[in-house]
Amino acid sequence: MVTKDLVARRLVGIEMSGIRKMFELAGTDSVNMGLGEPDFNPPAHVVEALHDAAQGGKNGYGPSLGLPELRSALAHRIKDYWHEDVSADNIIVTAGATQGLMAIMQTFVDHGDEALVPDPGFVLYDAQTRICGGFPIHYSLLQENGFKPDLDEIQEKITPRTKLWVINTPGNPTGACMTRDEVRAASEIAEDHGIMIVADEVYDFLTFDEEHHSFLSHHDNVIWTNSFSKTFAMTGWRLGCIATKPEYVKAIETMHYYTVACPPTPIQWAGVAAIEGPQDDVERMKSEFRKRRDHITRRIQAIDGFTMQKPGGAFYAFPSYDFQVKSEDLALACAKAGLICSPGSAFGKLGEHHLRFSYACGIDEIDRGMDILEQVTQELPVRSGRRTATPLV
Ligand SMILES: Cc1ncc(COP(=O)(O)O)c(C=O)c1O
Repeated sequence: MVTKDLVARRLVGIEMSGIRKMFELAGTDSVNMGLGEPDFNPPAHVVEALHDAAQGGKNGYGPSLGLPELRSALAHRIKDYWHEDVSADNIIVTAGATQGLMAIMQTFVDHGDEALVPDPGFVLYDAQTRICGGFPIHYSLLQENGFKPDLDEIQEKITPRTKLWVINTPGNPTGACMTRDEVRAASEIAEDHGIMIVADEVYDFLTFDEEHHSFLSHHDNVIWTNSFSKTFAMTGWRLGCIATKPEYVKAIETMHYYTVACPPTPIQWAGVAAIEGPQDDVERMKSEFRKRRDHITRRIQAIDGFTMQKPGGAFYAFPSYDFQVKSEDLALACAKAGLICSPGSAFGKLGEHHLRFSYACGIDEIDRGMDILEQVTQELPVRSGRRTATPLV
């Protein structure tokens, strides 16, 4: 047993993510809508490239910032986002976006600095800021605002200690996608206040109704992060990237070197094949996710007591509900009945009275899961005294 005074103070009060707790309670034939990972395999040519790289002796250390071939391929992939010329010099290859985000925080967040982070938001931002000695300042993403940042609130929350503003579009857990005008307006505020934007755009390929709008197109003071995890169904391979201006690349490189030495070499060769090879699997996966998005939206909107907006991207449904029960207890009841989902409270205070369903499972499984949800909730007392489903869109 490790006592509290043994671990470094930076870890005090930091808990493991609430998303994983549900798994322990669920039976083996449960419907799994808990974890955010695609239920597809990586494309066959990418698996082959990994095999060829390992077999062909490409197993040694590589450059800290990543293989030049992969950095160039990534620069080429984002050239339409970038507001000026982009090259390999703008790219850092990371061990997933998780390590990329941590490297950014460790490089720029000092003791006492403030970082604006979304609530509800992906679980990393708050914890990583605190581990680095900073203060996460939460800004709200409310269902009635389409889960988009309220720019007046942002301006009120900016102080002389605000170092950076984390924005995630398409969003986890909400699935919300910012429009071009919203991205531009947020960029202008950051510009006016001299604040760096950390743009987490790991779901950039998964927008269903509109093209993706990137912060890279609008703002010079941006650090952008992306991942192979979702786009190529490579979650366990741990490959991601950062794109930013060369001065920032240099600053982050030091932290990156002392953390990972270099990203894994054979996996990076597979990454080159993923970007430069055929994109049919990615397109197929996207069209499957679109069908599931439409299906789960219809199912949830038809369940009494839930309010659901059709999400524009990623693969999450994040309905609110009107029952007198905490989201952790409701998610536990669902897990016991055979449906794993995440309590909204795992993503921040404002996530309370929401559940997150990852629709990274087939339509039949979605139906089985929604039947369980309907059963679990049908006897619950409703806060407003009314039991009607309220579709917002
Ligand atoms: C918004 C967001 N950012 C970052 C990550 C981390 O991705 P990676 O697997 O590349 O570490 C995730 C994973 O779920 C995510 O949803």
